[in-house]
Amino acid sequence: KADQRGPATVSPTGQVTGVDQAKVAQGGAYLTTAQGVRLHDTDHSLKAGPRGPVLLQDHHLREKIMQFDHERIPERVVHARGAGAHGVFQSYGTASTVTKAAFLAEDVETEVFVRFSTVLGSRGSSDTVRDTRGFATKFYTTEGVFDLVGNNIPVFFIQDAIKFPDVIHAGKPHPDREIPQAQSAHDTFWDFVSLHTEATHHTLWNMSDRGIPRSYRMMEGFGVHTFRLVNAAGETTLVKFHWKPKLGVHSLVWEEAQIINGVDPDFHRRDLFDAIESGAYPQWELGIQTFPDTPDQMFEGIDLLDPTNIVPEELAPVQPIGLLTLNRNTSNFFAETEQVAFHVGHLVPGIDVTDDPLLQGRLFSYLDTQLTRLGGPNFNQLPINRTHVPVNDMQRDGYHQTAVHRGVAPYKPNSLDGGCPFAAGADAGAFVDVPVQLPESVKVRAQSETFDDHFSQPRRFWLSMSPIEREHIIAAYTFELGKCYEQAIKERNLQILANIDPVLCSKVAEGLGLPAPEPTVPLVDVQPSPALSQVGEVWPAD
Ligand code: HEM
Repeated sequence: KADQRGPATVSPTGQVTGVDQAKVAQGGAYLTTAQGVRLHDTDHSLKAGPRGPVLLQDHHLREKIMQFDHERIPERVVHARGAGAHGVFQSYGTASTVTKAAFLAEDVETEVFVRFSTVLGSRGSSDTVRDTRGFATKFYTTEGVFDLVGNNIPVFFIQDAIKFPDVIHAGKPHPDREIPQAQSAHDTFWDFVSLHTEATHHTLWNMSDRGIPRSYRMMEGFGVHTFRLVNAAGETTLVKFHWKPKLGVHSLVWEEAQIINGVDPDFHRRDLFDAIESGAYPQWELGIQTFPDTPDQMFEGIDLLDPTNIVPEELAPVQPIGLLTLNRNTSNFFAETEQVAFHVGHLVPGIDVTDDPLLQGRLFSYLDTQLTRLGGPNFNQLPINRTHVPVNDMQRDGYHQTAVHRGVAPYKPNSLDGGCPFAAGADAGAFVDVPVQLPESVKVRAQSETFDDHFSQPRRFWLSMSPIEREHIIAAYTFELGKCYEQAIKERNLQILANIDPVLCSKVAEGLGLPAPEPTVPLVDVQPSPALSQVGEVWPAD
């Protein structure tokens, strides 16, 4: 919004008037050192004569440069490039039969912070690359922080977190030449996904229009894993989380994406900021698919613990449970978007994890990486990460501690300050892990054979596409595989396409000038899921 206040003026005492206070870098009538001592000159260093060497004793010079030298922190190891915004989540109360989470009760308003991201590019990379997008939401609830750390694609490349370093090494730029910044067009990515066929489904989504969203405001979001909800009676329900954009789901076409990459690499970031700035607040409905919490954790033959699976909406409709509105831009990108720390383990009473082996590994990874990225264990004290309820965690000291804790006995119970937070009844409202009955178990590395079908779900996705979406997918595979140097990698990927669908395979093979292989697995007879297609989505009348 234009600042109506006219040009800034500086009074004789140094007071600045006539400017939008939000734009003032730092208040105060004069500049000071970090110790608060008033400065008379910050443009010239102390020297032995006007042309002489600079003196070591110039503390202001050293302090100023030292601080600057350490302005950068490591970028995220994945999802380094992002854009964030603040907002509110208004719950409908429709989930209260399945969860006791207070922020999902009827008509509760909860402050949130959302960070959208690409996955593989560095912090300064371009927005409209072909890639998965992160969609991470921090809910500052009355029961503590809940993070829903999702993506815009409902499945993942791998079934077990132990492969995460491998898939990311394969997707990141080649170690020798540091290209490309985008997910696409390189041998290591295509090498990995052809050797780990569980990646087929996610790769197909990436090669579809979903890989190049039109705007963050027009993307779906998915929690991907199956989560477990618990209601007030202690009954459990398995769920998958979905965000549905009010503006509908829209993508760029590849040619547009490439042109925008050059003309405006900040396209998505700008789009989000400008929309909020102008009052066109983006909205998403949060919904859940619910499944009975059966001992086998299967639904209609689909293993709910396998993160390469979706459950078609025709089999389990998405039930709306609340509305997210992003209505406030960040005022300091570093303090908010860069320092925010999401974690799948940030759960509140009523929401729990399942044994999905990908989710289990994530429970370790986020806290671990943030220790390095944010410089020690006290990043929960940063304003963007701080819960909006009182903290009484008995944690002490450590790098970047800013709290001044009181008391002599930082442990509970103790006999010195009289407090025992676990007195009878004090756990009402506490997070209690759901007591899940485990099957008789043995210690193995083997995985369930229900994780073995890597092709029928990709086939369903392909069969659910409209003709134009199929054309885009064929063009994307042809372009990306055409960039691979190694013939064997192209051939292995054609084999995977043959196992999804012979038409898809033969069209891409034709484009690559290679023979189309025969399928090596029987083609499964799956029903299309119309909800997977973007075509036919209409802009809502309101
Ligand atoms: C960051 C989603 C799997 C490790 C992120 C972010 C999102 C995300 C949205 C960005 C958070 C932000 O904006 O700050 C997902 C989804 C996954 C997945 C949906 C699968 C369903 C994994 C796995 C691992 C992992 C399996 C490791 C075992 C990380 C790490 C970061 C990250 C280390 C950087 C966090 C930070 O520096 O703050 N992920 N991720 N992710 N993810 Fe994942």
